[in-house]
Order: sequence, then structure tokens, then C-alpha cells
Amino acid sequence: MSVKKLFDLEGKVAVVTGSSKGIGKAIAEALAEYGAKVIVSSRSQEAVDAVAEEFKAKGYEATGIACHVGDEDQRQALIQKTVALYGGVDILVNNAATNPVFSPLEGIENNVFDKIMDVNVKACFSFAKHCFPFMKEKKNGSIINIASVEGMKPSLGLGLYGVSKSALIMLTQSQASEWGKYGIRSNAICPGLIKTKFSKALWSNEHIMKQVESHLPLQRAADPTEIAGLAVYLASQASSYTTGAVVNADGGHMLT
Ligand SMILES: NC(=O)c1ccc[n+]([C@@H]2O[C@H](COP(=O)([O-])OP(=O)(O)OC[C@H]3O[C@@H](n4cnc5c(N)ncnc54)[C@H](OP(=O)(O)O)[C@@H]3O)[C@@H](O)[C@H]2O)c1
Repeated sequence: MSVKKLFDLEGKVAVVTGSSKGIGKAIAEALAEYGAKVIVSSRSQEAVDAVAEEFKAKGYEATGIACHVGDEDQRQALIQKTVALYGGVDILVNNAATNPVFSPLEGIENNVFDKIMDVNVKACFSFAKHCFPFMKEKKNGSIINIASVEGMKPSLGLGLYGVSKSALIMLTQSQASEWGKYGIRSNAICPGLIKTKFSKALWSNEHIMKQVESHLPLQRAADPTEIAGLAVYLASQASSYTTGAVVNADGGHMLT
């Protein structure tokens, strides 16, 4: 058997939330490069159309569909439109997330708690439920939840964000344990410091980067493409016996 072929995503349909830039875009492009038909999604139709066009120019199959992941009607519409277009969903990457505050817990209002949980946890729960019937019917599906090392080890100021990512890790493991019998796998990726807009306040801070260089085993922040190969592995048959895994791509952060 060819191991290389196990990574092939030809004929698969992938939805990647928050894929107009950053980690989501890198993952969407990698899945498309391996043959998947990819739905590029974010809140801006203009932004997702531009990324879909960029992918098509490279010979990939891609469609842009706008969706604010915090809105149930838009979540439902995203999956319905995907199914109408491509006949199902084989790969769901729950990537979009928010972190509107950098604050100790006592300074955070309840409505901010609700917003973070809605976008970072409830949306992932809901998208997976919308995809479930199609994955179950095919007895095959891969859910990839983009969590964070913050979900396993707290950092000052990122406590509530960490709570949301911790919940996402448990959602991943619950999905894996309940849905394995239907051929549906669910795994979490925990990135460390990746150079995107989301984390710019961290990687553009000289003091923080000095700490990274002196304490982190790999001594640097990463590029979004350094998460993409892991997503291809988890999306494909190469990981057919992997479910409920929480995989770090963190330069060794969890060792520090
Ligand atoms: N960067 C890091 O260091 C790091 C570390 C650990 C984990 N992560 C996780 O990695 C994931 C991606 O983050 P990133 O760093 O790649 O962020 P990013 O570069 O800022 O990209 C975020 C993407 O999500 C979209 N988005 C934001 N809010 C959305 C919403 N409510 N509904 C739909 N789309 C939304 C954005 O597009 P629009 O603005 O057009 O909607 C954009 O496409 C997140 O789950 C984050 O928690 C990141």
C-alpha cells in the first residue's frame, strides 16, 4: 500500500471556518493542494471570494461563503450551501475564534464571557452537529478543532480564552468517544505562538519575543504554514486510527 496515497484528499469536501487569513487560510490551501474541494469562509464575502480566486488560480477547487460563526442561522446556511454545492461535508475545520480581551479574570464582564464561549465553543459544537448526518451517512468524517496551548496551561491575561480552548479540547474528546462508531474522527490541534494578525500583540512585542528566544525549545514563533501539514494528516486516511488526539504544534511551549 502506498503511504503517500493515504494523504490524498481527492473527492473530499472541506469546510474551514475563519480561512480568509492566518492559520485557517494556510490549512484551507493545504487541503486544496491535496485535492479537497474547499469552502473558504470568514465574516467578509469580499475576503473569502479573494482567497477562493487565489486558490483557483493555482488550479485548486474552492468556493467562498461568508459566515459569522457566532450566528446560528449563518452556521446552518454555511453547511446547507456546502451540501447543495458539493453533496456533503467530509472534513470540518473549526478554526475561527475570538479573543476580545487581554485581562485578568476579575476584570471581565459576563457578556464578554458569553461572546468568547459562543464563538470559540458553541460554534464548533453546532457546526459539528450540522455536519454529523452527512459524515454518519458516509461512515467517514474528520473534525479538526483548532484549540490552543492556552487550553492546557494558563497565561496571565488570556485566562478566559484558555477556558474556551480547554472546553474545545473536551468537546473534541467527547465527539471522538461518541462518534467513533460512526466512522467520524475528531482531533484537536494546539498551536503555540503563530505569527498572524490574531497574535500580533504578542509577536510584535520585543520583550515577549526575547522570552520566546531564551525559553522556548525551538526559540521562535512559527508561520501559519507550520500548522497546515498537521491538518492534512488529521483530515486524511493517513490518520485513520487517530481520534481524540490533542496535538501540540508549539515549538515546545508545553515543556516550559
Ligand atoms: N496565532 C496564534 O498564535 C494562535 C495560537 C493558538 C491558537 N490559535 C488559534 O488559531 C485559530 C486561527 O487564528 P489565527 O491566528 O489564524 O487568526 P487570524 O489570522 O486573525 O485569522 C482569523 C480568521 O478568522 C476569521 N474570523 C474571525 N472572527 C470570525 C467570526 N466570528 N466568524 C467567522 N470568521 C471569523 C477572520 O476573518 P474575518 O475577520 O474576515 O471574519 C480570519 O479569516 C484560532 O482558533 C486561534 O484561537 C492561534
